[in-house]
Amino acid sequence: MSDDPMKCDRLPVDDIFVADGTAGLQIPIWTVEKDASLEALPLSPEQRAWIEGVGFKGTVKQQTLVPGSDGRIAGVLFGLGDGAAGEPSGPSELLIGQLPQSLPVGSYRLANDARDPNLAAIAWGLGSYRYARYKSNSTPRTVSLRLPQGADRDLVLNTIDAVKLGRDLINTPASDLGPTEIEIAARDLAARYGARIEVTVGDELLAKNFPMIHAVGRASPRAPRLIDLTWGREGARTVTLVGKGITFDTGGLDIKPSSAMLLMKKDMGGAAAALTLGHMIMAQKLDLRLRILIPTAENSISGDAFRPGDVLKSRAGTTVEIGNTDAEGRLVLADAMALADEESPQSLFVFATLTGAARVALGPDLPAMFTNDDAFAAEMVATSAGVGDPVWRLPLWPGYDAKLESPVADINNVWEAPFAGSITAALFLKRFAKKAQRFAHFDLFGWRPLPNALGPRGGEPQTARALFTVLAKELCR
Ligand code: BES
Ligand code: ZN
Ligand code: ZN
Repeated sequence: MSDDPMKCDRLPVDDIFVADGTAGLQIPIWTVEKDASLEALPLSPEQRAWIEGVGFKGTVKQQTLVPGSDGRIAGVLFGLGDGAAGEPSGPSELLIGQLPQSLPVGSYRLANDARDPNLAAIAWGLGSYRYARYKSNSTPRTVSLRLPQGADRDLVLNTIDAVKLGRDLINTPASDLGPTEIEIAARDLAARYGARIEVTVGDELLAKNFPMIHAVGRASPRAPRLIDLTWGREGARTVTLVGKGITFDTGGLDIKPSSAMLLMKKDMGGAAAALTLGHMIMAQKLDLRLRILIPTAENSISGDAFRPGDVLKSRAGTTVEIGNTDAEGRLVLADAMALADEESPQSLFVFATLTGAARVALGPDLPAMFTNDDAFAAEMVATSAGVGDPVWRLPLWPGYDAKLESPVADINNVWEAPFAGSITAALFLKRFAKKAQRFAHFDLFGWRPLPNALGPRGGEPQTARALFTVLAKELCR
């Protein structure tokens, strides 16, 4: 176990991709669509007999090692199926992420041109990820790929590096990742890219008027804080990312049952997504004025915990009656969003593991997106599916806005009825984004419950790759 694997933990590039200038042959991988002819492949009659004998048909993820006459592995056939949306859903290049797990140790190359070489290489890198911090005897398997022809090396490596950061943060248990460690990760990132960073900690939150971040975090001995990072050219388009950084969510006094609490180390998945996206934006030097705001706290229980029925005054001035202490994410986000809104950013994006209801509606693999911008929504739905990081739009339905009314305060933090929980949460947030031109909120799960081609079971900073792709495209217009 290393001491602080998050700090300066760089991508082991030479394990994932064959190092530049490496001599020697790489084993060819032929990707094959279902029932496609193998005629054009440079195979001997013996090898063809072998392939027929083992029944290779090119079905999804079907893999066959092809022996050479010397008994070594001469090539690999890998099935891409018939293009029907499978898992992970998206273009068939994504399936290539399966290979680093299933191939024997060695170095490989893609023998036929990938339609999208960047996506193929990114899939390989994402599929290579393992979280081994607490494994005493883990020896990494080196299964490396020659970067496919036409792939953009920087884009590929930066994407994989950024997603690794987000996954590592989510996977780290709360015992080793509290608000302080989120701050360390943000400071590391700022130092790496020359960003400015300011952090407001503990009681200072009261002095600087972030009362709800303070209230949610004050029961924990680990002081809550607000991280504020800025980077990029003054005068460029302004993009502000706000990420929910609850490092553990007990539910507070409205305590969660054990089954619901089990995975709550991932309740900083929004912060991880914001940092992942920020990492990609800075590494790829997108011409944006970037701001990342992370309100981070542990929603804990003690005599000092905030209570059901309390009324909090928010940064924006709105008073909030606490209907449920487990709806804490929207409280810390509201104060951070109020700060973001003060400078009227052109885009305000919020990332959060905000509601169980979003999961009920769309399941773990499909984050819910709420936005006031129809063109952006359409672009996001299409682009996100194309890169294997899908989102689906749900409505900011104004008809439910009144459900947040409170008899004692300006607003309640929940609607008690068991309906439309992710919509009412989004409507709560929207009240704190008054001046931002384009507002979007992503209610994500932040977790892959079962392994697939893009990674093992565990943390996933969903929506970061999708939004990066859209923002990069927008700059070309
Ligand atoms: N962090 C949870 C939401 C969550 C739960 C996300 C499970 C992903 C998986 C959030 O703070 C929460 O507890 N929300 C409550 C809100 C309710 C009290 C109105 C929820 O969704 O149950
Ligand atoms: Zn909660
Ligand atoms: Zn939460």
